[in-house]
Parts: sequence; structure tokens; C-alpha cells
Amino acid sequence: MARSALLNVMVQAALKAGKSLSRDFGEVQNLQVSVKGPGDFVSQADLKAQKIIRDELMKARPTYGFLGEEGDEIKGTDGAHRWIVDPLDGTTNFLHGIPLFAVSVALERNGEIVAGVTFNPATDELYTSERGGGAFLNDRRLRVASRRVLSDSVIGCGIPNLGRGSHGKFLVELRHAMGEAAGIRSLGSAALDLAYVAAGRFDGFWETGLSPWDVAAGILFVREAGGFVSDFDGGTDMLNTGEIICGNEHIQKALAEVVKRPIPTK
Ligand code: IPD
Ligand code: CA
Ligand code: CA
Ligand code: CA
Repeated sequence: MARSALLNVMVQAALKAGKSLSRDFGEVQNLQVSVKGPGDFVSQADLKAQKIIRDELMKARPTYGFLGEEGDEIKGTDGAHRWIVDPLDGTTNFLHGIPLFAVSVALERNGEIVAGVTFNPATDELYTSERGGGAFLNDRRLRVASRRVLSDSVIGCGIPNLGRGSHGKFLVELRHAMGEAAGIRSLGSAALDLAYVAAGRFDGFWETGLSPWDVAAGILFVREAGGFVSDFDGGTDMLNTGEIICGNEHIQKALAEVVKRPIPTK
């Protein structure tokens, strides 16, 4: 698997941030944590990881824009390119000692995601992709699962946290999905949920209320692994709508139909 120079820059940044996260994960009880809102935390580990990635990426491509979850946005003099970065996806897992979290870095060119890297330092799993070149987990090329019906499928979902106003809507989606799929799972990291779909571990995944940094790299992985991704209207404006429904062509279609069903009357 040959990586471009640009993808290598992204991989090096993600690995370096991953090292910092691994160290902090080892002494998570000593980290300073602030509360952004109900059920929404940010720690020193998130901030350190973002600084590492931002410095690495901006050193390599000083004219590109930068959008990261923890602020310090850069508009960039190059109007075409923008880095989209989640330095620690799954902060709540991380702070609870649950090894399901990841660094996620994507590159957007003229509004399209063209490269992505997601790295879980706790499991040493590195997902990479460049548009047109396939998606990989470490050195293994990925392919979405081939199951055709929901009743054979394991479906991932994102459960809205305390501060979200979408609990009722999610429970309706979940109820419909539970009635059709073989099993439902939730990892607590949207970046990993999408990587799991690309790797064929999950047959599909849906979530709403997401931010561009949660999903930018993962959307590319799923597509490059032969899968389909849409928002709830069937469009592909996921970075703006924050909605995701994905899987292979059969599961994506079936899941889209199921999670959009109206509230049952009885
Ligand atoms: C969160 C995770 C979670 C998703 C939330 C995200 P964070 O990101 O991806 O799975 O359900 O919507 O905000 O805050 O841990 O980077
Ligand atoms: Ca966060
Ligand atoms: Ca996130
Ligand atoms: Ca984050």
C-alpha cells in the first residue's frame, strides 16, 4: 500500500498525537477536565493532542485552512484545502478508562474529503484512505460487510449524551432499528463507528447531531471500502447536516427506511 506524501504527513501527526493520548490515558485520573456543557467534557489530553496535530499539519502545509474541535481555526490562504481534525473522538470513553477512542484527521479539497486517518492508540489500529485508492486498517485493505438484510446485521448507532435535545427522536429510531436488525451496538466514538463499518465489523451505522470532525475521515473510509453514506434526506451533505446513515448498498437503503419511520401510534 503506497501512501502519498500528504497522507504520510497526516499519519505522522495522528501517530504523534496518539502517543500523547496513550501517555495521558495511563494517568487519566490526574488530567484536568473542563465541562463544556451537560455530558460534554474536554480534558488537557484533547487540547494537547490538537496542538500536536495542528503544529504538524501546519508545518507541512502552511497555507491550508484548519478546523479542529478544540478551536484555533485557521482560514488559510489556500482557498481549496482545509484540515478537519478531531484530536480525541470519544473523550467520555477516554476519561472513563474505556479504550475506545481515536484521533481523526481529514483533508478536504474544494469541499470534498480526499484523505483521512483515524488512529486508536489503545488498540494500535490505524485506518487510512485516499480518494480512489481504497481504505486500509494498518496494511489490510477494507471492504464493507456483504450481508444484505437487516435481520442478519449488527448496526452501530450513536446514543445522544445528556445535553442533547434529541433523546425522544433517537428512541424512536432505536425502537424501529431494534425491531429489524439482529443486534445494535454503540461505541461512543463516531470516528470508530464509521471505521468499523468500513472494516465490515458493523454492517451499518446511523447517528445525528454530529460535527464535521467526527465524520470527515470515516465517510471516506466507508465509501472507499465500497459502502454508501447519506444524510437523513438521502443527500450527501453530511458535514453540514451532521446526519449519517451508512452501510453496503442494501443495508444503507434498508436502514434509511427504518430510522426515518414516524413515531408509532401504539
Ligand atoms: C463524540 C463522539 C460520540 C458522538 C458524539 C460526539 P467527542 O465526540 O463521537 O460518539 O456520539 O456526538 O460529540 O466529543 O468525544 O470528540
Ligand atoms: Ca468533544
Ligand atoms: Ca468527536
Ligand atoms: Ca473530540
